Amino acid sequence: MSVSHTGITEQVLAYRPPDPDNKEFEPPKDRALFADPSKKALLSAAKQVRHLTPYIGTELVGVQLSQLNDAQKDELALLVAERGVVFFRDQDITTEGQHELAKHYGIQNRDPNQQDPRHVTIIGRDNDVRAYADFTGEYHADDSHEVNPPAYTMLRMLKTPEYGGDTIWTSQTALFDKLSPTFQQLFEGLHGVHSSEVTFVNSINGGGQPLRPPVRRQHPLVRTHPVTNLKSLFYNPLFVVHIAELKGQESIHTLNFLREHLHSADDLSVRWKWEPGSVAYWDNRTVAHRALPGGYDTSQREGKRTAVFGEKPFYDPNSESLTQQIQRQGGDDVIVKSAEHVKLHFKKAE
Ligand SMILES: [Fe+2]
Repeated sequence: MSVSHTGITEQVLAYRPPDPDNKEFEPPKDRALFADPSKKALLSAAKQVRHLTPYIGTELVGVQLSQLNDAQKDELALLVAERGVVFFRDQDITTEGQHELAKHYGIQNRDPNQQDPRHVTIIGRDNDVRAYADFTGEYHADDSHEVNPPAYTMLRMLKTPEYGGDTIWTSQTALFDKLSPTFQQLFEGLHGVHSSEVTFVNSINGGGQPLRPPVRRQHPLVRTHPVTNLKSLFYNPLFVVHIAELKGQESIHTLNFLREHLHSADDLSVRWKWEPGSVAYWDNRTVAHRALPGGYDTSQREGKRTAVFGEKPFYDPNSESLTQQIQRQGGDDVIVKSAEHVKLHFKKAE
């Protein structure tokens, strides 16, 4: 919970954002819904499919994003939806090519602090992330306070330090699944209050000019994924400042629990070391992420981030937890076999 900020200064009081808040709309149908469930066009093109952890993260080796056909692009969306984040190295795609690729997946969103309408430039940071009102190292889902928070988000690094600046992603699908049934039932039906007030104030005090006014917006604390039909937490400590249905202290204690639940989930996370030309493509609906700051030459880190609007977050009580879905599909054995199938498929394609 990041309720602290750098203060209501004269600059904050005088500032008038140029644009109004975004209005709710229905984005184009999720491209993953057009994909062949076997994803064979994409997976057979890879020299290797590396699942980096059990719950989140797959690296496709030997695939160039610049060369994907439309069927493979749709299958990539499905793989991202299923695995939370998909990684690539040594990509030759240009910034223009990244813009074009984003168009396949939907309509690009614009972060309130985004200068170029086509992408966010990600830079290195050397902040003291433990300092008061510093949240630059905190877990978040990008722009979760928006009415249509991003669905698919791609980050491509142009330059990276030799070490430092890794990013960590954590599966909120798994975070929900690992809760006790009692806590699962408690959280289903509640709403997180997502606020951009902190980023608004800190941006202005840091010399920024945010495009839109700050907002507070409720989203389901447990949301349903429109493609996988899985329940996931939709929580992050940067933007979620309150649980709408709870009283003040109840909410504070619940948010503290959720933050600890997220920060202690090494087993549900993947940590990625960047190199120039590395790309991460994640499902911003179901994962939280944080960049690790400090300890390196920050001028050596630069990347381009593109993201497309997702649906307004919703909760379907008939959707499933991860464990429920695995059991319905026949248990862990089936999952292991399907993983083997992926591997066999790759061997066949070699
Ligand atoms: Fe981010």
